[in-house]
Amino acid sequence: MNQELTQPLWDALRGVRFPGMSRDIVSFGFVKTVRLVEGRAEVDIQLTTGNPEAAAQIRADAERACLAVPGVESAAVEVRVQAPPAGQPGSQPTAQNPDLIPEVRAVVAVASGKGGVGKSTVTANLAVSLAKLGHRVGVLDADIYGPSMPMMFGIHERPMVVGDRILPFERHGVKVMSLGVILETDTPVIWRGPMVMKAIEQLLGDVEWGALDYLVVDLPPGTGDAQLTVTQKIPLAAAVIVTTPQDVALIDARKGLAMFRKVSVPVAGIIENMATFVCPHCGKETDVFKRGGGERTAELLGCPFLGSIPLDPAIVVGGDAGVPIVVSQPESAHAAAFRRVAEAVAAEVEKQLAQRPRMTIV
Ligand SMILES: Nc1ncnc2c1ncn2[C@@H]1O[C@H](COP(=O)(O)OP(=O)(O)OP(=O)(O)O)[C@@H](O)[C@H]1O
Ligand SMILES: [Mg+2]
Repeated sequence: MNQELTQPLWDALRGVRFPGMSRDIVSFGFVKTVRLVEGRAEVDIQLTTGNPEAAAQIRADAERACLAVPGVESAAVEVRVQAPPAGQPGSQPTAQNPDLIPEVRAVVAVASGKGGVGKSTVTANLAVSLAKLGHRVGVLDADIYGPSMPMMFGIHERPMVVGDRILPFERHGVKVMSLGVILETDTPVIWRGPMVMKAIEQLLGDVEWGALDYLVVDLPPGTGDAQLTVTQKIPLAAAVIVTTPQDVALIDARKGLAMFRKVSVPVAGIIENMATFVCPHCGKETDVFKRGGGERTAELLGCPFLGSIPLDPAIVVGGDAGVPIVVSQPESAHAAAFRRVAEAVAAEVEKQLAQRPRMTIV
């Protein structure tokens, strides 16, 4: 289809907003195809929402917008709606493209309300633990602010490209790809929405992930616009939220939960990091921040508690050296804690997959 012919239609559709939101349906990525055939505009829209009125409204607004374009005599707008998974409020939209990674069963995001809680450390160890449990696992580092998977997996080279496909790195039984190895390093990047979308699309669609059970995604910390954009682009099966045990972390965990609910992504649960510290000299246990904070947070927010990871300098050493602790000390209590978390995550994600909704056409 000649782009010039359909450009006025795309422009007109940029004037259609998701009811109650400030963004338009094109920038959300809902509009899949636009055609102009002998004066007839044909538009295909796809979105996830639990609000049928919103879908009907978008359809009517899109038709009206198309008909206002000079030369358009009729408009046929099809809106394909996917209901959000059960238990989610789902009144907000998402625009994901599962076709980019057809061989990946479940994409699981690791998120946190704030930075520095150990999200990347948990991502790396969770992924390797899932692989050790016999699953086929990939790690996608989508942290646009500070990609850390190259360091945590000891990747110092550029990826191989075969034909037009980028090959993921293979480390400790896990396939790994990071924005950090695709971007020029040391170049500060000011990310604007469309650039994030493009980079994420490349990480999903151009990387030869192959068949995977779980693709674990390290999201940027926080709950701002960038995080929302990333979660909208990646077809997430579920998200897990990493928190530290202090009461104050509850506020951030709550923000994280709200963000995923906004985009209809089920939260598989909460992982508490940097909990107890066992002194290597005297064996005494110290609750550095507080005991049971993560569990209480999960209870208060009404989502599963997936387990607790102790605080230990050995975890830092592993991360910095590119060998996650579950590899360097497989018999340690930390490795066991990560294994239990991995089992809990897999069980919750399977529950979410079983509830996945079907597509309907409005
Ligand atoms: N359980 C732990 N025990 C001790 N140190 C830890 C633990 N988990 C993470 N750390 C250390 O805390 C620091 C922050 O961890 P990490 O980079 O994983 O956090 P993050 O949430 O991904 O941070 P960012 O928001 O910058 O992406 C790192 O130095 C890491 O080694
Ligand atoms: Mg990080």
